[in-house]
Amino acid sequence: MTSSPALATSSPNPSRAEQIRALFDRYVAPTYRRSLVLSHGSGSFVWDTDGRRYLDFGGGIAVTSLGHAHPRITDAITRQASRLTHVSNLFHTEPQGLLARKLVELTGPGKVFFANSGAESNEALFKLARRFGQETGGRFEIITALGSFHGRTLGGISATGQDKIKSGFGPLLPGFIHAPFNDLDAFTQAITPNTAAIMIEGVQGESGIHPATPDFLIGLRRLADQHNLLFLFDAVQCGMFRTGHFQSYETILSDAGLDPASARPDAISMAKSLGGGLPISAAWFSSRVADLLGPGSHGTTYGGSPLVCSAALEVLQTIEDENLADNVRRLGHILRDGLEKLRAQGKPITAVRGCGALIGIGIETDPIETAARLRDAGLILIPAGTNTLRCLPPLNATEAEANLALHIVEDTL
Ligand SMILES: Cc1ncc(COP(=O)(O)O)c(C=O)c1O
Repeated sequence: MTSSPALATSSPNPSRAEQIRALFDRYVAPTYRRSLVLSHGSGSFVWDTDGRRYLDFGGGIAVTSLGHAHPRITDAITRQASRLTHVSNLFHTEPQGLLARKLVELTGPGKVFFANSGAESNEALFKLARRFGQETGGRFEIITALGSFHGRTLGGISATGQDKIKSGFGPLLPGFIHAPFNDLDAFTQAITPNTAAIMIEGVQGESGIHPATPDFLIGLRRLADQHNLLFLFDAVQCGMFRTGHFQSYETILSDAGLDPASARPDAISMAKSLGGGLPISAAWFSSRVADLLGPGSHGTTYGGSPLVCSAALEVLQTIEDENLADNVRRLGHILRDGLEKLRAQGKPITAVRGCGALIGIGIETDPIETAARLRDAGLILIPAGTNTLRCLPPLNATEAEANLALHIVEDTL
């Protein structure tokens, strides 16, 4: 017999939050350290079940690109839900076709495979690399960066360059070699006759917001061309306008006065901000490799459903209509300048990294404990690595909201 949630708490009159926490304690696998019990959101804010409001600059870990309950997204998914939510990939549907076209227009000539999570879109890249390697001399190795994060599937953790993510799950998938991030010589030396691909994040997210250098990006593109390797790009966290351009390599290279096309990858995985809160991911394959994964070679039941594709189309259209790429660049400047000022004033900030709506705040204190103090003061940021807080505001956050975040950081740190 199951007891009611109320009976599962120790308190005689449990609050709603206590009741919900008790459900989690009892029924939800404990893979996460959770904090607030949230009830609803609007724009850049969320509310807990006690009615307290928080400025959400964590965005569900870089997902809610237009904030919460955006009317255009709500409307798009409501309309689509009343027509057709899912049919499987045995059929054509208009939203998937339109979204694929949009992603190709934004990225470059090629084709798109749709999946449901960042890890799954990376799996598509790994399989693309293996197929490419097999067809070009039986190669299978993929070089990835130390400090990288590529997801929690077995392929994802094997690709990830952090021991703490892999620990306890061996044996891992063979064929992943790690080299230091932003070290072109090390990547060059890691190439063997078995190497099929190189894969990096444009801005390492989970390790604490570390952007690739322009030289590294251009160097990897050249290296891939010289050795006939695929250059794979994990844009799950740093893509979809989060840095002020559709992809972070475009931001990094154009900020350095260089041509973004000189580092365009052969394949790019995308997720998070793409669906504005709905679970959708995509793998863009350049024309060169767009037809390598033919019928029967790869798939997923839910991928690219009309429901999630209609949400992603509306996200991208809203970003375009409201010039949100410009807003992201503006927000980035306000937040970075404000944080640098606080650092100069002697606040315990050790570094400010990243750009646009993807900012890492290096701190001297424990990030989990510091995030909890900021939360108590009404601001949600996300811990990363051992000494960083991530600031991942919605792409449509306002200047006033950015300043509010800075005030809370100033008062709390
Ligand atoms: C760069 C990167 N790749 C892959 C993933 C995995 O994405 P998901 O959790 O949607 O599987 C993440 C998640 O944080 C990520 O930041």
